[in-house]
Amino acid sequence: MGAQQQVADAFAALYGTAPEGIWSAPGRVNLIGEHTDYNDGFVMPFALPHTAVAAASRRTDGIVRLHSADVEGGVAELRPEDLVPGTDRAWTAYPAGVVWALREAGHPVTGADIHLASTVPVGAGLSSSAALEVVVALALNDLYGLGLQRWQLARLCQRAENVYVGAPTGIMDQTASACCEEGHALFLDTRDLSQRQIPFDLAAEGMRLLVVDTRVKHSHSEGEYGKRRAGCEQGAALLGVDALRDVPYAELDAALARIDDEEVRRLVRHVVTEDERVERVVSLLKSGDTRAIGPVLVEGHASLRDDFRISCPELDLAVDSALAAGALGARMTGGGFGGSAIVLAEAAEVETITKAVEEAFAAASFTAPRVFEAVPAAGARRLG
Ligand code: GLA
Repeated sequence: MGAQQQVADAFAALYGTAPEGIWSAPGRVNLIGEHTDYNDGFVMPFALPHTAVAAASRRTDGIVRLHSADVEGGVAELRPEDLVPGTDRAWTAYPAGVVWALREAGHPVTGADIHLASTVPVGAGLSSSAALEVVVALALNDLYGLGLQRWQLARLCQRAENVYVGAPTGIMDQTASACCEEGHALFLDTRDLSQRQIPFDLAAEGMRLLVVDTRVKHSHSEGEYGKRRAGCEQGAALLGVDALRDVPYAELDAALARIDDEEVRRLVRHVVTEDERVERVVSLLKSGDTRAIGPVLVEGHASLRDDFRISCPELDLAVDSALAAGALGARMTGGGFGGSAIVLAEAAEVETITKAVEEAFAAASFTAPRVFEAVPAAGARRLG
């Protein structure tokens, strides 16, 4: 039975009627451009085939009912007018936060029955929470005829995450889930959300992209994430710019010379060089020089490890063991402190590299990683 039918059946069993519709929204990996999104910079994620699926119907009595196939417990029932940011510590904060954000922005969402099921690994740095937010936002947008565009849904989902859930994240994950297209990476300018879909078909060129989920949960990272964000904002203020995006790469050394604080200097160096790496990857892909992005990914990892200091032994080992086994490039992806790494490899080397990474983890007595291939999949959409 397909995921769509399963979700529809579960909805009917829970709520007693067929859902009005079914929607899906994917998780993502980020090819390059890490911790640049809250600095108004560039990112380049693509959607995973792993999705959150929602079956949903409207209600007119001001009640929202939420259920997840992935979490123990029954149906949660809430009243939109009672929602208070920062009070929900459960999974329901993500869908409830979206209802809150939509209503706060003046959109007439009068209630809903929602059943969710997700295949996006949780805590793996693959944006399982953004997938949940975006699928609910898209469902409510369609059901209530709100007419919001994808980027507007992404903004509202980010607001749900920042204010309602209380995680100070940027706009990358929600935009990736809402706007990515199959077979493409999304080159996104996070300042104005202008986008370019960049064809990214590694298989056609005899390559693969692997995701190594280290199984180190990154859920305790919010404090550290917030600290990095605050440090970047401090750097921008010291340099007299709105955001670090405004520090030209060519002027980086001069800018660094003006910062006394060693930590802030490192953060600034990462962000400014990372924006340049995104632009380099875009131009390499444009000129068909795909293999040459490998070393850029490796540079990005070193910068996240040494300057931004958000890697961990498992991520470093995933990257180092993959490279030692012949990978073209590798780096941690996502927020850091655990989660996943990506590995760019020749198709013929995939088995050798996977084995090498698994053996390295076993030798270090780390939990066995989960390695899978990622092909750019579709963004959020209505399934039925
Ligand atoms: C997390 C956040 C994003 C982004 C990345 C790092 O995934 O949700 O907004 O900041 O970390 O690039």
